[in-house]
Amino acid sequence: LPRPAEFDFSRPLTATRARLPFAGGQSGGYGYDGLCPGPLIRVRSGAEFRIRVANALREETTFHWHGLVAPTAADGQPQAPVLPGTEQEICFPIRQRAALSWYHPHPHGATARQAWNGLGGLFVINDAEEDALDLPAGDDELFLVLRDAQIGGPGRLLYPFDPDGTEGRVPLVNGVINPRTELPARQVRLRILNAANARVFRLSAGAPLTVIGNDGGLLPAPVPVNEVQIGPAERLDLILDLRGAPPGGSIGLRDADFEEPLVDIAIRAGAPDRWEIPARLSRIEPLVHDGTGPDRVFRFEGDSSINGQGFDPRRIDFAIPFGKVERWRFYSAQGAPHPIHVHGAHFQVIAREGGRGRVEPWETGWKDTVLKWAPEQVDVLIRFDAYEGRYLLHCHKLEHEDGGMMLNFVTG
Ligand code: C2O
Ligand code: CU
Ligand code: CU
Repeated sequence: LPRPAEFDFSRPLTATRARLPFAGGQSGGYGYDGLCPGPLIRVRSGAEFRIRVANALREETTFHWHGLVAPTAADGQPQAPVLPGTEQEICFPIRQRAALSWYHPHPHGATARQAWNGLGGLFVINDAEEDALDLPAGDDELFLVLRDAQIGGPGRLLYPFDPDGTEGRVPLVNGVINPRTELPARQVRLRILNAANARVFRLSAGAPLTVIGNDGGLLPAPVPVNEVQIGPAERLDLILDLRGAPPGGSIGLRDADFEEPLVDIAIRAGAPDRWEIPARLSRIEPLVHDGTGPDRVFRFEGDSSINGQGFDPRRIDFAIPFGKVERWRFYSAQGAPHPIHVHGAHFQVIAREGGRGRVEPWETGWKDTVLKWAPEQVDVLIRFDAYEGRYLLHCHKLEHEDGGMMLNFVTG
């Protein structure tokens, strides 16, 4: 199981063609700095994020910082592509809490293919609140980028395009099919991103699993789980307790759809581990909405529209008052799952009706993407108070997004 490389800020982050090891090392894949997943970017809350980005592909791309609240011009939206052979400097302050975010391409109509070909990387924000918890770190903190792929023989990465969301037959963890690793019989922190175009992973492990965080950072309190679901673009922060696992044996991190474990973990003896997960992890300000019904309802339809409209980069679909808490309702009768994502702010999931009928324990705290199965109606509270500008609401099943299941809105 390879560890994602750390990003070197002295050079530009470059979207380029790459030979991807999982496809036999000869495919015409893509990678940031030639890697899939791309290098891990680390920034401290309160610092300024300053990076050069370069497009060495033969087509337009953009660099979107998913989960980061960025000014419109730095948000990597489809309206502002980085042309082939050009470079840009991006700079904005990190005014948000510790969380696992990520970056990926967002060019209109080509996001799904570029991401499938290998573009995507992790973006970690740290802060003092998280430091104080003394969470497992160093070798005891694992970053896992999940996705799937389709390999058509040695060296051939296929893209079996499906307008309703492309899934591949093999799962990849950090770009490797069914990797193995060895870990001490201690508690380890698993920081997971689902970077797949469309696949939902349902994870379980042969040892106790506790959710401590998600897209927006730490949850208020830890929640033990047997199985967790993670839709495209969502993140999870888990503690896997290997203290009871017998050294010499192995356990699997598994997905419900695959026979083989996603990661096979061999257990070795480790130094005693007396750390316990703190009963309170974080203080989360609950958003308060005045009013009873939703302020806006979004119907996700077929594989290409929201409220009857497909994406038009030049059209602004709605305007949101700055600083006001709104209640948004996401709905669809069919065509699910839809992982629904908003740029420019995080939100709180407050209700789900139909389908699962509950807010899952890993959906508390702050989110930027919420998974909606059909028929389910999901309500969230959201407040835009960072930047006035133009942002996006879209389905993060990337073929739906490219198909037009995306709207522009403005805040201010
Ligand atoms: Cu992860 Cu608009 O995207
Ligand atoms: Cu985003
Ligand atoms: Cu969708």
